[in-house]
Amino acid sequence: MSRNLTSNRASLGHRLSYAVRNPGRVPRHLRRTARDAWLRYRSPDHVAYYRSVMRSDTRRDADAAVGSHSRERWLALGRMQFDYLLGHGLLPGHRMLEIGCGNLRAGWRFIDYLEPGHYHGVDISPDILFAAQETVRTQGLQDRLPTLTPVRDLTLAFLPEGRFDVVHAHSVFSHSPLSVIEECFAHVGRVLAPGGWFDFTFDRTEGEEHHVLREDFYYRTETLTDLAAAHGLAARFMDDWEALPHGQSKIRVTHGADGEG
Ligand SMILES: C[S@@+](CC[C@H](N)C(=O)[O-])C[C@H]1O[C@@H](n2cnc3c(N)ncnc32)[C@H](O)[C@@H]1O
Repeated sequence: MSRNLTSNRASLGHRLSYAVRNPGRVPRHLRRTARDAWLRYRSPDHVAYYRSVMRSDTRRDADAAVGSHSRERWLALGRMQFDYLLGHGLLPGHRMLEIGCGNLRAGWRFIDYLEPGHYHGVDISPDILFAAQETVRTQGLQDRLPTLTPVRDLTLAFLPEGRFDVVHAHSVFSHSPLSVIEECFAHVGRVLAPGGWFDFTFDRTEGEEHHVLREDFYYRTETLTDLAAAHGLAARFMDDWEALPHGQSKIRVTHGADGEG
């Protein structure tokens, strides 16, 4: 998939040329801009802000709220995440934490594959977690006993130490300011099992870092790998993800060399 890795999507020039090329999308963008201003006024804290975005989006359509505008795309995006982790050695006996699990686009496949009780999804949006419960029901996965927990932050303080072999966050840091990502890095090492790994996707830029509204954040790879290192974690860019038809990039984080990250 070809991606423009240098343009600043927040710049006036980019927005104007995008509007000329995609006039049909202008009304939607204007609606989101107005919503952004209103929610920012009501919720200066980012997590509260994004919870409100998810509430409004989920009310319209839960699949679209996690970024898939058709059930076909929802299924395909979930399968892509699942196949990738399977190809990287995910085993049924692994315990998995999914950060920002949404309505279980990939989660239902992990729940189905892992041993009962081995999947734990967390999300800041109670509304999308209600939709996640509905996915468990419609996929007939009640006996797999997934845990779904609403969270206010990413300190993960309520979870046991060294518990999870795999931590997964797809399309979550693409909606997160650096302070939220840093909070996650500061705490994820505690819950990661020895030898475990944490994969996350992000919107990559090779130009200036920027964000569009408070919804979409673009980072340079080094910003995130350096931040992980500052928290004692080793981070590497996953080249094989780039070949897949997805607009984001992926980084894998593991315990640092001292094993304490
Ligand atoms: C684009 S959706 C992706 C959902 C899921 N990972 C998937 O691939 O279908 C992003 C999800 O992350 C959640 N989220 C955003 N920021 C979060 C945070 N700081 N902590 C936990 N969840 C978060 C949102 O509520 C939303 O459900």
